[in-house]
Amino acid sequence: MRTIVVTGGAGFIGSHVVRLLVNKYPNYRIINLDKLTYAGNLENLKDIEQAPNYKFVKGDICDAALLDKLFDEENVDAVIHLAAESHVDRSITNPMEFIQTNIVGTVTLLNVAKSKWAGNYEGKLFYHVSTDEVYGSLGETGFFYENTSYDPRSPYSASKASSDHLVMAYHHTFGLPVVISNCSNNYGPNQFPEKLIPLAINNIKKGNPIPVYGKGENIRDWLYVVDHARAIDLVFHRGKNGETYNIGGHNEWKNIDLIKVLCKIMDKKMNKAEGTAESLITYVKDRAGHDLRYAIDATKIEKELGWTPSLQFEEGIEKTVEWYLNNTSWLERIVSGEYEKYYKEQYTTR
Ligand code: NAD
Ligand code: DAU
Repeated sequence: MRTIVVTGGAGFIGSHVVRLLVNKYPNYRIINLDKLTYAGNLENLKDIEQAPNYKFVKGDICDAALLDKLFDEENVDAVIHLAAESHVDRSITNPMEFIQTNIVGTVTLLNVAKSKWAGNYEGKLFYHVSTDEVYGSLGETGFFYENTSYDPRSPYSASKASSDHLVMAYHHTFGLPVVISNCSNNYGPNQFPEKLIPLAINNIKKGNPIPVYGKGENIRDWLYVVDHARAIDLVFHRGKNGETYNIGGHNEWKNIDLIKVLCKIMDKKMNKAEGTAESLITYVKDRAGHDLRYAIDATKIEKELGWTPSLQFEEGIEKTVEWYLNNTSWLERIVSGEYEKYYKEQYTTR
């Protein structure tokens, strides 16, 4: 029996990681520690919430006393740390929450792991899940490698870069066993609709404008979320202590081209004439400091751990659209209330 705390397990990626681990490893105890911020949603885990090897704990990673108690009571062997404030636009309007959760929260977790595991790191691991955004912005060519220098350019990416550095500092200074992975843009079921793909699906569904920042020329490298969860499983089990692994989809899209593909799929699925959704595309004021291009070189994880994405983008995006269209109540519950307020503040001035 191994006890693993997954932080942020009620969020988008975390819920897919929790599901994979709970189903694949009946001999592990998976404890999902999540504060349930606006982005956390236990509905994401309805199918596994009764599993005997799963437990949910509501809590903040900045709460040292709670972490202390959790580690004592549960005999925690490993942490897979995903809890974070994750939306770049929100980090531009409110950086402090990002500093608090992403930096202070990570170091609080590191402190507890270090003190509880002190003297016996055998079988212990602190796995920090990070982002490709720490590497900055690429021009038209080139890739991010594991040894690319950090150059974060938004409060979000700076907070994630800072947390990555702290994780490595605890490894080098205190010998804490750690691994880090830096992944590209995820898409798929259960993503909070503030992010580009679910936001566009929801707006098309409602016949609302699809806001495209700037000229829509920024490029992102998209990976289906379940493939990220599979990669996390591999890195957790086979990643080398103290190392970093880049994870990416070899799947670069200009935002505007991606939106047009999405529009075509939505027209088909909603039985609308071709071009209906595209007519909703609206160019709006660019994101401040908008990174031009991200692209991951994933050779290391492919060669060393044998990981490759299992889904082609065409298949993944169809599945994603279908999921949102078949889960309207999930979407409706989220886009009401607080989110409506956020949406107005974020988009009416653009
Ligand atoms: P998300 O915003 O969907 O979920 C974040 C989760 O963390 C939520 O459940 C939230 O309630 C929880 N949380 C936030 N603050 C907390 C706190 N103080 N204590 C405990 N729980 C807290 O995020 P996501 O998109 O699933 O991203 C998960 C992780 O993966 C993040 O660390 C992010 O930086 C990283 N990442 C995301 C992407 C992506 O494309 N979404 C890509 C690469 C890396
Ligand atoms: O690269 C990994 C990162 O991907 C993760 O670390 C972040 O947590 C995750 O949010 C994501 O960041 P992005 O900023 O790339 O994702 P987002 O979905 O917000 O935006 C994708 C692109 O679409 C980006 O170039 C901005 C643009 N965009 C976004 C929104 C929300 C628009 O044009 N219009 C929009 O309304």
